[in-house]
Amino acid sequence: MADTLETAWARLKELAARPDATEIRPLFAADPQRFATFSNRGGGLLLDRSKTSISPKVQAALLDLAEATGVEARRDLMASGGVVNPTEGRAALHMALRGSLEGVPEASADAERTLERMRVFTEAVHRGEIRGATNQRFDTVLNIGIGGSDLGPVMVTRALWRAGDPMRPIHLGNVDGHGWEAVLPQLDARRTLVLIASKTFTTQETMANARLVRAWMEASVGKLGAASHFVALSTNMEATEAFGISADRVFPFHDYVGGRFSLWSAIGLSLALSLGWERFRELLDGAAAMDRHFLEAPLEQNLPVLLALTELWHVNGLGLNRRAVLPYDERLRRLPAHLQQLEMESLGKRVTIHGASVPHATGPIVFGEPGTSAQHSFMQLVHQGPKPVPVDFILIARPDHRHAENHRILLANGLAQSEALLAGRNAAQVEEDMRRAGADDATIARLVPHKIFPGDRPSVTIVLPQLDPATLGALIALYEHKVFVLGTLWNINPFDQWGVELGKVLATPLVKELEQRRPAPGHDASTIGLLTEVLRLQE
Ligand code: F6P
Repeated sequence: MADTLETAWARLKELAARPDATEIRPLFAADPQRFATFSNRGGGLLLDRSKTSISPKVQAALLDLAEATGVEARRDLMASGGVVNPTEGRAALHMALRGSLEGVPEASADAERTLERMRVFTEAVHRGEIRGATNQRFDTVLNIGIGGSDLGPVMVTRALWRAGDPMRPIHLGNVDGHGWEAVLPQLDARRTLVLIASKTFTTQETMANARLVRAWMEASVGKLGAASHFVALSTNMEATEAFGISADRVFPFHDYVGGRFSLWSAIGLSLALSLGWERFRELLDGAAAMDRHFLEAPLEQNLPVLLALTELWHVNGLGLNRRAVLPYDERLRRLPAHLQQLEMESLGKRVTIHGASVPHATGPIVFGEPGTSAQHSFMQLVHQGPKPVPVDFILIARPDHRHAENHRILLANGLAQSEALLAGRNAAQVEEDMRRAGADDATIARLVPHKIFPGDRPSVTIVLPQLDPATLGALIALYEHKVFVLGTLWNINPFDQWGVELGKVLATPLVKELEQRRPAPGHDASTIGLLTEVLRLQE
């Protein structure tokens, strides 16, 4: 075991500097059991890390680093309600929302109370006991929110909602009026329940959309009646009251729930309403299963820890600061967007928790699309670009449709992509293929360099038995905990997001200037030029 943090980092750097540090194929040759050695199960999921260049020595060094960093102590501090978000002086208790934290009875009881209110409300809406101003049943839930108050619910809705579910979910995230215009034709105000989802209840975009929708609702069902169509999901009781939402229509949560970790809180009400209470509860239970695994499994079997250590090896060992996420399930098409916020808003930091410069790279750029569509867009770069891009493949064994051939093709492609990244195709193999296909010498000489696949390109694969609320909950929680572990390993605060503030501040006077059609002094020349051009084009 490494005795100090410095020793553990130094050992890792030393291993990463070895000429064979990026080689994966020889590791399979050396260990026929590599899949078994580097695959782990937890929360109902399987994680395969064998197609990375993590050798047994690297694995040991990574685990030493996790120990030397005190990952377990930090995890336990989070679980016991300690301040793990020191720049905002807050705990991070999203696990309490899914009933995983016995050590914080107050937060757990509070979460239960809110969940119970959500259940009662949801079932009353479904039974038609809570109705709109014109006494019609609600059949549509419109969630207005942005960032964590939108991405999580949208992602889960796309993954799980099916025709015939209790209510039709519609999301309004972006402040772009085209978004509102696009959803408007789908809405019947008399049957629409509007949720204003905002932790702070001050977010400019959400409040602008809320005002827009309130005006539309008032025009449709009258000013008095409109109130019965609105619900707020927030931590800011004063602001919800000022907006005119009565206390019994506010579902609260607390500042110890970060926006990108909030879909389990009142922010998930649109999910409960649209999917039904049971399935929302199963989602929470699935996340709780991953929580238990994270809290109890030893480091060397702990999926979030292993996933985090793999990323650290890629980012800090091999200098690979990008990662692609390819869920092989169309229903998970918004998962990459959710992970972009979860990971990049959490880990895109360059100072330590104590405010010093981080001496190494931190959060990578995350992007992705469902497979197989992604294969026909950015995977060219992943296979043959100059620098490897580690990939997360997510496979679902059993589909919820009867088109067996389609599913075979889908799965085969997912497996083939990681196999191709690993195996590659060298010049001799390419030449042999081309000769067999009848190519002449000149064509072979010209095309061989273009057809070589370097191989030894890393990926991990996560396998779900099927996509249902429980497995999805576990999958999301896996990534949440991975983010926390990386924050600990990098000694950064994964729970704040100061980096989004400056743009918000600068946007406020610009709104005025656009309204008054006059750039104010103080901007840089480019911003004045652009503003002037936009105003000119609007004339
Ligand atoms: O983009 C910054 C952010 O604060 C996110 O962290 C958050 O999820 C989003 O804005 C929305 O914030 P709120 O829920 O307070 O409207």
